[in-house]
Amino acid sequence: MAVFVTRRIPAEGLRVLSQAGGCRVQQWDSEEPVPRAELLAGVAGKRGLLCLLSDRIDREVLEAAGPGLKVISTMSVGFDHLALEEIKKRGIRVGYTPDVLTDATAELSVALLLAACRRLPEAVEQVKNGGWTTWKPLWMCGYGLSDSTVGIIGLGRIGQAVARRLKPFGVKKFLYTGSGPKPESAAEFEAEFVPLTRLAEESDFVVVTCALTPATHGMCNKDFFGRMKKTSVFINTSRGAVVNQEDLYDALAHGQIAAAGLDVTTPEPLPTDHPLLSLKNCVILPHVGSATYATRNTMAVLAANNLLAGLRGEPMPHELLL
Ligand code: NDP
Ligand code: DGY
Repeated sequence: MAVFVTRRIPAEGLRVLSQAGGCRVQQWDSEEPVPRAELLAGVAGKRGLLCLLSDRIDREVLEAAGPGLKVISTMSVGFDHLALEEIKKRGIRVGYTPDVLTDATAELSVALLLAACRRLPEAVEQVKNGGWTTWKPLWMCGYGLSDSTVGIIGLGRIGQAVARRLKPFGVKKFLYTGSGPKPESAAEFEAEFVPLTRLAEESDFVVVTCALTPATHGMCNKDFFGRMKKTSVFINTSRGAVVNQEDLYDALAHGQIAAAGLDVTTPEPLPTDHPLLSLKNCVILPHVGSATYATRNTMAVLAANNLLAGLRGEPMPHELLL
């Protein structure tokens, strides 16, 4: 069972593969992404592929792999980097890593929200550069969660975990949107299902935690930001492409919304001269939602176990049903 692993992954994950009888591992053993040519060469003739969200697994890769490829296991819950139609056509099984990163990502989403609405990076900078001259009544003021309305785009695993963490801050009302109402998920927060336009208009905080799909691509655009309140804060920890970044820049630069916090951007990494980085009211993180040691180790082990189960023709711990 020859497999290709596209990156250096936490040692626990690799151990699962190397200790499995009959599994021959070839790895791109680097912190940096595998170059495309190495990916195409590495996957050739393999039965299994363990990849990351930064690897675009499209028809070219599947063709380079050849008909022997039976399983793709991604060390991520997001799967927008996988050409699912092509994968399905070839009867390849797909494993992914839901649940195990939900807490870490929700925690980071809350941290990012607080950093953006209470202007933490800006305030830290003032301490360092001498801008802190005395205590001033309106200096460095921001917006708090108490009595607020929070709108969640995508009340899935992470969206619910974010709502659960925000509720004790004194949130008055939760709104959510998605492909349809989810009364069972919403009950805990008494969250109301609303159209996207109403969520934009009424929320003091918008948190994007949906999957990237054709329907959500570019969903947060000029019209969306134009409907938001001037005092509202926008947070995205899903995928960069859900947001039209030019429209977000305009909304932030012209005071259409108060602030934004992004853990995900287009592209990644965001070029250091990107206009969004010139804005004081935009906090940008380098896609670190799931970045705790424990979570990344668990993700690697789960990805390895998904791969092995798929190779053995057994049920996977977490299989994406195509
Ligand atoms: P889930 O599948 O549990 O949730 C995805 C949500 O997206 C669902 O609630 C779904 O709602 C919603 N959704 C789908 N279509 C739409 C739509 N048209 N409008 C609004 N919402 C929609 O996934 P997770 O919560 O586990 O993960 C969500 C995403 O978070 C991942 O796909 C990934 O991209 C991202 N992520 C980012 C991380 C980071 O490091 N920043 C870490 C982990 C995940 P419905 O059921 O109604 O269709
Ligand atoms: C995912 O898993 O989709 C995240 O973006 C990284 O953990």
